Amino acid sequence: MNLTFSLIKPSAMNHCEEILMAIKTGGFSILAMKSQNLTLSQVKKFYKEHAERSFFEPMCERLTLGPVLLMALYEQNGKDTPLQFRALLGATNPKDAAPGTLRKRFGIDLDFNAIHGSDSDISAIRELSFFFSGMETGLILSNSHELELLY
Ligand code: PPS
Repeated sequence: MNLTFSLIKPSAMNHCEEILMAIKTGGFSILAMKSQNLTLSQVKKFYKEHAERSFFEPMCERLTLGPVLLMALYEQNGKDTPLQFRALLGATNPKDAAPGTLRKRFGIDLDFNAIHGSDSDISAIRELSFFFSGMETGLILSNSHELELLY
């Protein structure tokens, strides 16, 4: 799939412009983006698959500490875009991330790793649909349960 979802976390919102520049330079187009304050209930649903993990509660609370930037990303002629985008993000822990990656540049540690990116096509479809309407992105769910660009 040539789409993915990304979210700039509250701790990195002061670096939005540089992050957006790096995303575009990296070959990703922004179909839609919006800044929003998330409620704890929304974040818990978003991170639902991690609910049993020891760090779940504090991880959720950190996303409510200020506005986040939600983004629907598109890669012209792209394939495996969620994985391609995660390469631009770098390792989950900024301390392990390769030089030049977004988490290395703007993250601090595992708790403040600056930016989220969907980990698979299925997650991207779920996360894009969770935060954006078809009207906002121009994307619609096809009969084969894939997201298609309407234009
Ligand atoms: S996984 O499941 O750990 O292999 O996947 P990963 O994408 O690396 O991590 C999933 C999300 O959990 C966050 N995470 C942590 N937060 C705090 N402490 C620890 N130890 C920790 N391990 C993983 C990680 O940042 C991922 O959230 P996002 O929003 O994608 O950054």
